[in-house]
Amino acid sequence: MREIVLLFLAFVAVTQAQSPVQCVKNAYPPDPKTKVPWFTINLDLPPEERWKEVAQNRGAQIRNLLNEFKKFVLDWGSFADKIIAFVDSDLGSLDKTLPYPFAGELQGMSKYSGLNLGEVVLFNIFYEFFTVCTSIVAEDPNGNFVHARNLDFGLFIGWDVKNKTWQVTEALRPLVINLDFQRGGKTVFKSVNFAGYVGILTGLRPSLFSLSMNERFNLDGGYIGILKWLMGDRSEQWMGFLTRSVMENATSYEDAKTQLANTTMLAPAYFILGGVQSAQAAIITRAREKALDVWEMSTITDHPWYVLQTNYDHWEKPLFLDDRRTPGNQCMKNMTRQSVGFPAIFDVLSTEPVLNKLTAYTALMEVKTGKFESYIRYCKDPCFPW
Ligand SMILES: *[C@@H]1O[C@H](CO)[C@@H](O)[C@H](O)[C@H]1NC(C)=O
Ligand SMILES: *[C@@H]1O[C@H](CO)[C@@H](O)[C@H](O)[C@H]1NC(C)=O
Ligand SMILES: *[C@@H]1O[C@H](CO)[C@@H](O)[C@H](O)[C@H]1NC(C)=O
Ligand SMILES: *[C@@H]1O[C@H](CO)[C@@H](O)[C@H](O)[C@H]1NC(C)=O
Repeated sequence: MREIVLLFLAFVAVTQAQSPVQCVKNAYPPDPKTKVPWFTINLDLPPEERWKEVAQNRGAQIRNLLNEFKKFVLDWGSFADKIIAFVDSDLGSLDKTLPYPFAGELQGMSKYSGLNLGEVVLFNIFYEFFTVCTSIVAEDPNGNFVHARNLDFGLFIGWDVKNKTWQVTEALRPLVINLDFQRGGKTVFKSVNFAGYVGILTGLRPSLFSLSMNERFNLDGGYIGILKWLMGDRSEQWMGFLTRSVMENATSYEDAKTQLANTTMLAPAYFILGGVQSAQAAIITRAREKALDVWEMSTITDHPWYVLQTNYDHWEKPLFLDDRRTPGNQCMKNMTRQSVGFPAIFDVLSTEPVLNKLTAYTALMEVKTGKFESYIRYCKDPCFPW
């Protein structure tokens, strides 16, 4: 990860300071063409069969994104050698080392997409990194919660000089899909996913809780965890498997919070969790072993009606040239608690640099009703970053 951080600092050094924030108004509803399509995942099927439709439908796009990843991994030194060796090995023992139901699901994904199993594993590992984002949970004056997020992905992975775009982010947008996970024909939870990924980055369990995950940069964190995993140590959980288990099986906001705070993971992360009862919202700042901090909404002195998290610990200042927190807070306060709802929060998430060239989608979730919308995002030039 060190090379990545240095690269980032180099970028920062050549970037000028940003202009003052103009909170966007009336951006909702966005162009219906940007609406994300739905697929159903039937949890009553054997794991190998659950992703058939998604894999058949999006196999070519997954292949395209993997090619972008691979170009990047090739530039990535010794870590890359390990991953590629792993991917090229026959992986015959994978099903013994991944917990149920993930081995089967990845095998099914491989079978129906035409990608080999190692490539599917690589594809799933990548989301443990590089998920740079903004998440918000806000409570309106009647105790109704809206949980929303921008997912930004692909920083440092292939800048296209001619088109001024991040190649991975471009390749990622066609993979964005909404999922309705069902048991017995009924919704258990909903999520917005990248086709090919079986974990959860953004999800809603109707009338119980909502969850989003943001990357937490850490010089050693994920790098060490994933190396240990590749070398055979299976004592730590993949973040995406933990969030998936929580969405599928946690029975309450409190249950979800305990699992997210106390399960050892491969990489550090932020979990943003919202509930249904007044004041149920928190940001969980994770180290690999456990939570460093659980920041409850009700304890935030200047805005006890919302939490907002980007990619920096809340007790530290954000990196000054990647400050999406200050404009986000400015626009949330400008919006006021009275206006909490999909339209006003969509506006906040449409304000640069909260919206930026890496933003792949915006998701809006209302836990009480189960209402779930997501939209593909583009940021027209001039737009941060670079
Ligand atoms: C805050 O809202 C007011 C009116 O609603 C607007 O005039 C002002 O420009 C907004 N502030 C920012 C930073 O956009
Ligand atoms: C750059 O944009 C052009 C035209 O929009 C497109 O044909 C080309 O494939 C793009 N290049 C990459 C690497 O995405
Ligand atoms: C959720 O619990 C069920 C029943 O115990 C189990 O079969 C399933 O694999 C669990 N889901 C995950 C993602 O762990
Ligand atoms: C995590 O576990 C510890 C010890 O068992 C417990 O005291 C703590 O409340 C748990 N954290 C959460 C957020 O539930």
